[in-house]
Amino acid sequence: MKAAIATLEARLKQALVAAFGPDLAGADPMLVPASNPKFGDFQANGALSLARQLKDKPRAIAEKILAHLDVSDLCEPPEIAGPGFINLRLKTEYLEHQLKAIQGSDRLGVEPAKQPQKVIVDFSSPNIAKEMHVGHLRSTIIGDSIARVLEFMGHDVLRLNHVGDWGTQFGMLITHLKESSPEALTSPESVDMGDLVAFYKEAKKRFDEDDAFKTRSREAVVALQSGDEAARTAWNALCEQSRREFQKIYDRLDIRIEERGESFYNSLLPAVVRDLEDLGLLVENQGAKVVFAEGFINKDGDPLPLIIQKSDGGYNYATTDLAAVRQRTDKEGANRVVYVVDAGQSNHFEQVFQVAEKAGWVPENVELIHVPFGVVQGEDGKKFKTRSGETVRLKDLLDEAVERAQADMNSRIQAESREESPEFVQDVAEKVGIGAVKYSDLSQNRTSNYIFSYDKMLALQGNTAPYMLYAYVRVRGISRRGGIDFEHLPPDATVHLEDEAEFALARHLLQLDEVLEEVAKELFPNRLCQYLFELSQKFNQFYDRCSVLQAEEPQRTSRLILCDLTARTLKLGLSLLGIQVLERM
Ligand code: ARG
Repeated sequence: MKAAIATLEARLKQALVAAFGPDLAGADPMLVPASNPKFGDFQANGALSLARQLKDKPRAIAEKILAHLDVSDLCEPPEIAGPGFINLRLKTEYLEHQLKAIQGSDRLGVEPAKQPQKVIVDFSSPNIAKEMHVGHLRSTIIGDSIARVLEFMGHDVLRLNHVGDWGTQFGMLITHLKESSPEALTSPESVDMGDLVAFYKEAKKRFDEDDAFKTRSREAVVALQSGDEAARTAWNALCEQSRREFQKIYDRLDIRIEERGESFYNSLLPAVVRDLEDLGLLVENQGAKVVFAEGFINKDGDPLPLIIQKSDGGYNYATTDLAAVRQRTDKEGANRVVYVVDAGQSNHFEQVFQVAEKAGWVPENVELIHVPFGVVQGEDGKKFKTRSGETVRLKDLLDEAVERAQADMNSRIQAESREESPEFVQDVAEKVGIGAVKYSDLSQNRTSNYIFSYDKMLALQGNTAPYMLYAYVRVRGISRRGGIDFEHLPPDATVHLEDEAEFALARHLLQLDEVLEEVAKELFPNRLCQYLFELSQKFNQFYDRCSVLQAEEPQRTSRLILCDLTARTLKLGLSLLGIQVLERM
């Protein structure tokens, strides 16, 4: 038999709905995981809510459902409990059979989406000549994981870096560059602007203090927008320098992303204004052209305008996002556009989506989704800063995670009197350090703020990357000690479940498809983290209770299959979080 086509839950639901008969078509069987393994694997609570509708006793309804329920291929005979819950316990043979089926599948039984979509994930998106800060780090890590899950589920994903590479701030940057390093205009590659953030600060200082500089900066914006060559060259040099800096971070984090910054949409902006005007959605407001979205008011209770074109003719962040919505749906044919941007921009996206909707720019089959996330806080609960109160540079942040991982490792190596090469230590520290930073971010419910703590993220116990990596290393250790080649276990070997810990692990292993479908739909990577954490725990319980290499056949091979499935599930799951596993650590 092939691996199940629909997920287990979907099959059970279907069977329940069929048992309802046509009279109750459309009623929800309310299938949930059992509250306690004593009661089986699932319970269906639908009879309770149907009782009100049908004016009958819930138990009587449950009995009627049971009379028609056929789940004999999956479950032991169902039982009614309490006021009318239907308890379902999976058959041991079913579990054993499914485990064998996923063992033989590269995808561990996870079917690709039946209707693959074109999805754009707009993430990371730092601003040129400004610091790529921890907020961008969150967007980068969360966005990458969402993209990986969607790709694995068979969707066609376009990863876009909507960098802030356009706008009035370029006036002062170009002017400052021209005046401080004129050679940038003739041979931009020869100029090392060094620290762009410091450069930005210098430019800003001059802009604020020197009126003549301010005027020249304004002229430079106009020059840039009208395609003036010198302004364009200076702008390019600035973008290039930023790009090099950003790329270092992406390389280190193993992030793939295509840059398509705000400037890309520049030529599409006048049409946004014109079309909104034609649709009668634009209003003049203090010289600016604005749209009033419903439900947005300022602190005085007045309607809050979304500015589309400023009084000086310049365009705004929102104008670009509106142009991008059109381009992404029309030209790219996206079915889903996912914006991984901090929760502070929720209003912006709500307004933009509403205006796009009103303008008729969001076709029927297209979903625009803001995926918000909270702020990164220090251990004191305040905004994450260095001890001296500066914003933390991402490079320093990653370096410190790796250094600490290395220190932890060195003390473990010493305590265990192991001999390890410096290259090995360096490699493990890099993977553990980076993995820990990613995992600690992804394991939080992204909508809440999250407290950045090196100690917590590097702990060997708890819901951390090192804990997960350890579980994987444990299985690899079994393979080395027992001389086991997991890829060549006897093909006719079967799985026999006996111990409670084996059952718990087996059931959990079979939930991967459910979890990934949910993450692809709801876009919460912490669900996958939670799943992997529980998997590691269940594996450790199994490994503590059940001997593997010392067990007698056929139990030995059966347990080796459970070990192999655990390792492969961890490896796949972690890879979808952008985390690499290790053979030893
Ligand atoms: N550059 C923006 C920032 O740093 C984020 C852009 C997000 N994407 C978008 N399509 N607006 O805040």
